[in-house]
Amino acid sequence: METIIVKSPIEGGKKAFELIKEGMQQDAKVLGLATGSTPIALYNEMTESDLDFTAMTAINLDEYFGLSADNNQSYHYFMHEQLFAKKPFKETFVPDGLANEATEPARYDKIIEEHPIDIQILGIGTNGHIGFNEPGTPFDSTTRKVALTESTIESNKRNFETAEEVPRFAYSMGIKSILSAKKIILMAFGEEKAEAIKNTLNGPMTTDVPASALQKHPNVVVILDEAAAKLL
Ligand code: GLP
Repeated sequence: METIIVKSPIEGGKKAFELIKEGMQQDAKVLGLATGSTPIALYNEMTESDLDFTAMTAINLDEYFGLSADNNQSYHYFMHEQLFAKKPFKETFVPDGLANEATEPARYDKIIEEHPIDIQILGIGTNGHIGFNEPGTPFDSTTRKVALTESTIESNKRNFETAEEVPRFAYSMGIKSILSAKKIILMAFGEEKAEAIKNTLNGPMTTDVPASALQKHPNVVVILDEAAAKLL
């Protein structure tokens, strides 16, 4: 894995944007996108650029189970606000939080299969999760309904009024689908990510740390600020 240390999340966003731009010049057509605070600087770079995304497809990692697209806590809403409303794409896909769990995983896996991901953007949870693939997730997992761990509910409650409002379940793309991307850009900023980053990059490859599965991917770039890199 190639590691790039930057001075700030803004600089990290610029770096990730450069990599996406380069990828698009080399014919990348499908971007795998993430939510959370980490990719916001990247999305700002994208919306402020004059780069044209109208030939691009975007496929998001996950969505809270039970939230509709117009719920302002949903990942649909987040993506619309941060990126899609400002930068039109050819097509955008986010799992449907209201869809039936008997059909939604297969529907979403088919979308991924029909649109192989060229560049996957990832953030990381403090427990090492990617997407909503929590510790214990098998590396060959595909899209499914997942239960969020207490530590994820605790971390994500900052985006809700109260912890009780954080959904307990989500639909998430699996680790196998993430690893199927041709290139992966993982970003992490802040001291609270340092332990997860140490375990991801330098620890054993183990399902206890979902992001450690990235060690077996041949084309991963990790963009960190100094605080997230401090235990390396
Ligand atoms: C959520 C998302 C992840 C994201 C993580 C970290 O749990 N499902 O995709 O990486 O939060 O969020 P943040 O970037 O806000 O720290």
